[in-house]
Amino acid sequence: MPIITFANTKGGAGKTTVALVLATELARRGLRVALLDADPQQWMSRWHRLSGASANFDIVVDVSDDTIEKQIKDIKKRTDYIIVDLPGGLNPLLAKAIGLSDHIMVPVQGCAMDAVGGAQVLEILKQLAAQCDIRIPHSVVLTRINSIITTRSLLTVKMLLAEQQVHVLDTPLIERAAYRDMFNTGGTIYSMDPTRVSNLDKAQVNAQMFADEILRLVPAKIARTKATKKSPATAKRAA
Ligand SMILES: Nc1ncnc2c1ncn2[C@@H]1O[C@H](COP(=O)(O)OP(=O)(O)O)[C@@H](O)[C@H]1O
Ligand SMILES: [Mg+2]
Repeated sequence: MPIITFANTKGGAGKTTVALVLATELARRGLRVALLDADPQQWMSRWHRLSGASANFDIVVDVSDDTIEKQIKDIKKRTDYIIVDLPGGLNPLLAKAIGLSDHIMVPVQGCAMDAVGGAQVLEILKQLAAQCDIRIPHSVVLTRINSIITTRSLLTVKMLLAEQQVHVLDTPLIERAAYRDMFNTGGTIYSMDPTRVSNLDKAQVNAQMFADEILRLVPAKIARTKATKKSPATAKRAA
């Protein structure tokens, strides 16, 4: 039951959108997903209210640094994936969530490279490894990528991050109206009307490739033990 946390200290970096695309795609495949809505703005909860209850899907609200550990403990037996949507900002909840996670996803907007908020999270992860020997696998997720952006410029960004030993997911999340509309209408990119939402099919294929990559990177049945977290070799393989 892996815990995947989306973190970037900058608001608007794309955390909630990527987290929801992943969560809904996993649930569609029959995996039981719990979404921890840790953002006081509660975008996820609002989406959930609009959407109504759905199979394989739990949402947990009012998540704080004091409560998150217990909330995860309470729900973990019933889920295949726990997905944590953090608010922006550098705060105790971020530190706590990082410590509890099996994988941290750091969404960064490809074109703007709003790297400061992402870099803050990467820096915390680096310090944890250097000072405490705690290695938490993590990846940068490029998001809101313009669909006509060249593969070459994406490769350049990946190379730059690779030079700093930062893993970047091969599949970026493309800028798509469908991903935005989920929050306005509720439902998923599979319940939308293709005649009203442009490139809906492309958004679906993108979400599927994105989920495929995450499932390969963070398989459902990873054993989460202290030894796993502290072994650099394991962390490297997982990253
Ligand atoms: N891949 C995407 N395609 C289209 N719009 C996006 C995408 N990712 C984010 N957005 C939009 O960008 C804004 C900020 O995204 P959001 O996920 O709320 O960021 P955060 O959770 O980091 O604050 C929202 O208006 C959202 O609809
Ligand atoms: Mg958010």
